[in-house]
Amino acid sequence: MPITVKKAERIQKLPPYLFAEIDRLKREVAARGVDLVNLGIGDPDMPTPPHVIARLCEAARNPANHRYPDYEGLPAFRRAAAAWMRSRYGVTLDPETEVVSLIGSKEGIANLAVAFVDPDDVVLVPDPGYPVYHIGTQFNGGTTYRMPLRRENGFLPDLGAIPTEVARRAKLLWLNYPNNPTGTVAPRSFFADAIRFAERHGIVIGHDAAYAELYYGERPPSILEMPGGRDVAIEFHSLSKTFNMTGWRVGFAVGNAELVAGLGKVKTNVDSGVFQAVQEAAIAALESEPSVVANLRATYRERRDVLVAGLATAGLPCEPPAGTFYVWVPVPRGQSSAALAKRCLTEAGVVVTPGNGFGDAGEGYVRLTLCSPVARLREAVERLRALRL
Ligand SMILES: Cc1ncc(COP(=O)(O)O)c(C=O)c1O
Repeated sequence: MPITVKKAERIQKLPPYLFAEIDRLKREVAARGVDLVNLGIGDPDMPTPPHVIARLCEAARNPANHRYPDYEGLPAFRRAAAAWMRSRYGVTLDPETEVVSLIGSKEGIANLAVAFVDPDDVVLVPDPGYPVYHIGTQFNGGTTYRMPLRRENGFLPDLGAIPTEVARRAKLLWLNYPNNPTGTVAPRSFFADAIRFAERHGIVIGHDAAYAELYYGERPPSILEMPGGRDVAIEFHSLSKTFNMTGWRVGFAVGNAELVAGLGKVKTNVDSGVFQAVQEAAIAALESEPSVVANLRATYRERRDVLVAGLATAGLPCEPPAGTFYVWVPVPRGQSSAALAKRCLTEAGVVVTPGNGFGDAGEGYVRLTLCSPVARLREAVERLRALRL
């Protein structure tokens, strides 16, 4: 007889999955034979560069790579990550103590809370934001304080508005620029303020830089290149979006040695590192000619310009994102995020993500992605125009 198993509190307390209704509608509309244009997914449609794939094939044949990897990452991978940080940001890191490999940055983001969040600690998270900051905190008994990202503040959290009592109890502050879902790039002055705030209250900064290389203006800074950044921060990098490698599961965390060691300690106990052949391929990616990433940026820039200009003609004017492959679109007055997403899907066959799925402060927006070719983006715009929003 099947037994009844009560799920752990942490699972029971998970927030409701806000995209369930959209997923159901998507299936329903697709079943009607509608050719959906999916601007919901944040997963590159372009393939991993051939030289990276070639390196994987070669490395996969080497029996030395068939064994358990080094927990913290191959020395050569950590050296390549450190060299990448130096070439991009002029930041010099010790590959032994200030770099750790990750099975994708999501893994590291979730595990940072295991290393540093105790029950009743407060973690400051952006709202709207990538859900893992909240979930990681909750899984470890902590409480999140949501910092609204509002247009009038340039989608930056207002650190001065955080009550002193909350700041006093806070252990960790999550930042993410270039930002998912708003597409914002934070100025250097904001990072300087955040570092001062962290120093004043003894708070760790986790900076999620998963979109570090996707920008359309000035290069966004690493928090580690800012004065004092290395004293308080750990930064998460990912090969997923930079090299079209979401399925490969590889990234790295860099920064303050104590924070890197804490994260590494968790990892030695819960996973056994990244397949070494994938690490070798990741080295090839990190050592790519600059043109590889420059071409990627040019592709997204063209798509961004087509989509943003098209949306304006469809009654959905919005700011062009300064970074990432997301377009954060205000919902026309009088409608909700969910209602607009539903109309786009059921009446136009265009999948968009309702902004409130990223937190309450995301209400009033929908998120569209640039992970489709220009022709599909034009098609989406044509169909949305017909809705006369
Ligand atoms: C803001 C942000 N951080 C981190 C990640 C995780 O990326 P990965 O685990 O593939 O490195 C994502 C993925 O979509 C993201 O949007």
